[in-house]
Amino acid sequence: MSLDMSILHKNAIGVTDEESLKQFTYIEKAKGYVAELEKELGRKPTACVVTFGCQMNAKDSEKLIGILVSIGYESVETEDADFVIYNTCTVRDNADQRVLGRLGYVKSLHKKRPWMKTAICGCMMQEKTAVEKIQKSYRFVNLIFGTHNLYKFAELLCQMFESDRMIIDIWEKTDRIVEQLPISRKYSFKSGVNIMFGCNNFCTYCIVPYVRGRERSRTPKDIIRECEELAADGVKEVMLLGQNVDSYGIGLSDEDKISFPELLDEVCKVEGIERVRFMTPHPKDMSVDLIDAIVRNPKVARHIHLPLQSGSTEILKRMNRHYTKESYLQLVDLIREKLPDAAITTDIIVGFPGEKDSDVDETIDVVRKAGFDNAFTFIYSKRTGTPAASFEDQVSEEDAKRNFNRLLKAVQETARLQSGKLEGTVERVLVEDINEQDSNLVTGRMSNNTLVHFPGDESLIGTFVDVHLDECHGFYYTGTMV
Ligand code: SAH
Ligand code: SF4
Ligand code: F3S
Repeated sequence: MSLDMSILHKNAIGVTDEESLKQFTYIEKAKGYVAELEKELGRKPTACVVTFGCQMNAKDSEKLIGILVSIGYESVETEDADFVIYNTCTVRDNADQRVLGRLGYVKSLHKKRPWMKTAICGCMMQEKTAVEKIQKSYRFVNLIFGTHNLYKFAELLCQMFESDRMIIDIWEKTDRIVEQLPISRKYSFKSGVNIMFGCNNFCTYCIVPYVRGRERSRTPKDIIRECEELAADGVKEVMLLGQNVDSYGIGLSDEDKISFPELLDEVCKVEGIERVRFMTPHPKDMSVDLIDAIVRNPKVARHIHLPLQSGSTEILKRMNRHYTKESYLQLVDLIREKLPDAAITTDIIVGFPGEKDSDVDETIDVVRKAGFDNAFTFIYSKRTGTPAASFEDQVSEEDAKRNFNRLLKAVQETARLQSGKLEGTVERVLVEDINEQDSNLVTGRMSNNTLVHFPGDESLIGTFVDVHLDECHGFYYTGTMV
């Protein structure tokens, strides 16, 4: 369930960046077009942004909604809106298929409502073949843009209102970061904060570097300013976002350059921000310094998501991950020693080209030894254009599924061993929501990312409270406020 939208309405006052100022003039212009539509419809036009993929995409969607709200749309959550925007993901083939499925549905809505508009943006649109497919089979789509020019949304909207043709604007790459545009947050009390964009790692299975471009870091000044503005607006928890947060700093000038552990220190100094998360660190860049920074900053959540991908050193090498089974396990040992109360979660891929049963045995061995609190497991999906797509020894679907099930069993067993460790203790939680099944309960999130359901009402949402963990039910607890 989503909560009230918290809107940080910005106007151009105080904005210095030339590009942002230009976009504010397009926001003004687009307001006129939306006002005309409002007159025509006799009501406020509605817009729905449908988000696929990761936290980075979710943050981008908040930027899109920020612009839409600024120009006069009412943001809604159902696709029978006057304007639908799909913010796509292409990390695995099933993400692509889901978007195409939705487009089929929207096509029928367009027929019934000639004024309706549809836009598609995000990672999938950075792939030439995907855009070609839309041009060919989904002619009703009004606007297509990519990940690098999202900040131009207001400008593109003006073009869309001024033309009957499909507007397509995709950039191959960018080195710019445009700050200070409007944003509309999904939650009033927590927010993602981009610290870097893109990825330079080129893991051989992964499409992200191709669709998100090279790594660019935001300046510490801009990050801290955003955190301060968020805190002033009532936000208590931030999640620092990037594909490889522990390599933060690439591309910063000498005077701006700080490391990720130093950035964590700075963010923790922001008054009002009581909890700091980050997603995702890469095991190859996870340093003792970073672990020490977490230890010395109690505001940093005791949850480390450390993608393993495979437990076989041979496969890791072919994945271009730059660590081994042993070095990964050493890292986990160090985290357990220095942060005994931290939950460790991971991502694992099964069925990577050349993977044998014995490689999966190695992965299962790491799962058991690391004792993950949870793991997201994926069947390898071949992404056109990545090196692994042309590896000759692709694994059969049957073998991948069989090994996937073996792995899943191991993950469930270890997660069960980890769960329940905190039963009977008192934990500080940030209350996020009314419980979906029982409206007498609220749901809070602990530092280690586990959820707890306990009696409470709406007035608690967005506050930190202490909760006694009465009983563990696998992945969540039930408790009582103390
Ligand atoms: N930057 C992060 C996460 C990137 S995408 C990292 O380095 O881990 C999130 C997860 O999707 C990855 O961790 C990986 O497990 C999975 N993934 C990425 N590409 C995939 C592919 N081609 N097939 C299956 N899973 C994939
Ligand atoms: Fe993809 Fe690897 Fe970059 Fe993560 S680090 S986004 S898995 S290339
Ligand atoms: Fe998907 Fe793009 Fe994120 S491909 S996982 S939405 S960076």
